[in-house]
Amino acid sequence: MRISVFGTGYLGATHAATLAHWGHEVVGIDVDPHRVRRLAAARPPFHEPGFAELLTGGVTSGRLTFSTELDAVGDADLHFLCVGTPQLDGSRAADLRAVWSAVDALLPRLGAGALVVGRSTVPVGTATLLQQRLDEALGAGRAEVAWNPEFLREAHAVEDSLRPDRLVVGAGSDDAADRICAVYAPLIDAGVPVVRTDPCTAELAKSSANVVLASRISVVNVLAEVCEAAGADIERLTEVLGLDPRIGPHYLSPGLGFGGGCLPKDLRAFASRAAELGVSTAAQLLDAVDEVNTHQRHRTVQLATDLLGGTVRDRHIGVLGAAFKADSDDIRDSPALAVASALAAAGACVTVHDPKAAHHLAHRRDLRVADGIDSACAGADLTMVLTDWPAFAAVDPAALSAVVQRRVVVDARLSLDVERWRAAGWDVRALGRPR
Ligand code: UGA
Repeated sequence: MRISVFGTGYLGATHAATLAHWGHEVVGIDVDPHRVRRLAAARPPFHEPGFAELLTGGVTSGRLTFSTELDAVGDADLHFLCVGTPQLDGSRAADLRAVWSAVDALLPRLGAGALVVGRSTVPVGTATLLQQRLDEALGAGRAEVAWNPEFLREAHAVEDSLRPDRLVVGAGSDDAADRICAVYAPLIDAGVPVVRTDPCTAELAKSSANVVLASRISVVNVLAEVCEAAGADIERLTEVLGLDPRIGPHYLSPGLGFGGGCLPKDLRAFASRAAELGVSTAAQLLDAVDEVNTHQRHRTVQLATDLLGGTVRDRHIGVLGAAFKADSDDIRDSPALAVASALAAAGACVTVHDPKAAHHLAHRRDLRVADGIDSACAGADLTMVLTDWPAFAAVDPAALSAVVQRRVVVDARLSLDVERWRAAGWDVRALGRPR
């Protein structure tokens, strides 16, 4: 099939490369010429494990091209919308300008029977509004809007594209649903479950999944605070919870809370849309989830301050981690960076090391950037592990002892081997874990 993909962020680019891998002819369209040039030269503009190989395969086969020119859409009759829907400035709602401008750009290029398939995370009701726009501009029934949300995790985008756990196809007609299913024939043949539904439910399927995931993390973090107050151990507690098959062991890690370009903004956009729809209970619950999440950052800053005797001013803090999670160079709404920034604002001398995200910090005047763990922690009064990179968990505490000023570490992702660190003379502190 000939397919266009609008938006070549980690979601759109991975989607385009996956489609080409399955044999489709795909053009990725983006307004950013720098990004397009890199992708067209098979040079990934972001860190995503396995993506370079997938991209190179597509580009060298000639089936995967990238362009800033709308005319490159050519005779494609299936168009995926993979543009970003960030949080709107000064509001909790989603900013849908990129979605609307992609559809406006497509309008003059849509032939009869064209299918526009949204994959971006949008507030429920967006597909209906887009369909109205197409009907008004082109005449009713000429082009159709459907929704086929993605559930990709950053750092696992390739794996999640090639082996997703479900496909959601939200279309108003059987013909549109069949055409979307045909795109994914290799997955459907491999037995990936498909849920066919209406566009509204498909839109909600995505944002609801993120809302459930975010809520789960905040529940675990509230439990961690109760553990702390009661002298219990959150790690053993989550182990017990995870053994209940109805709860399951995944996505139960306590600590610094969630961040990134998806969960926080999707949670807020959902709350905002729920309020618009008059469902105030949903908005209240989700606002509390958000508040609990931000509270973890404050609690971590407070823990660091307490460990430094009540003030961080002029104290040296070695921060390990800037990305919002391991295996990613994304610092959007990063809890690690929020904590590092807050400590620097309070007067600490903060040196940050991150294996992939450090390049984003080059312009920061309040943070020093180190290219290694030892140099970040040299002379540190406090060491903080704020992102769950395996390289941090693998640090030899005995060797690190030689470079720091004081052997005190905040394990904000509960990722260190406590016994090992304690045996090397470290005071290891974590939210929700007994001293
Ligand atoms: C999330 C969802 O997991 C994907 O299914 C979804 O497609 C994606 O958003 C999206 O909307 O595009 P992602 O943001 O890549 O994926 O990251 P996650 O792995 O879900 O982690 C999100 C945040 O939660 C990270 O900051 C992570 O450190 C934190 N987290 C995760 C915890 O604090 N505890 C956990 O147990 C799990």
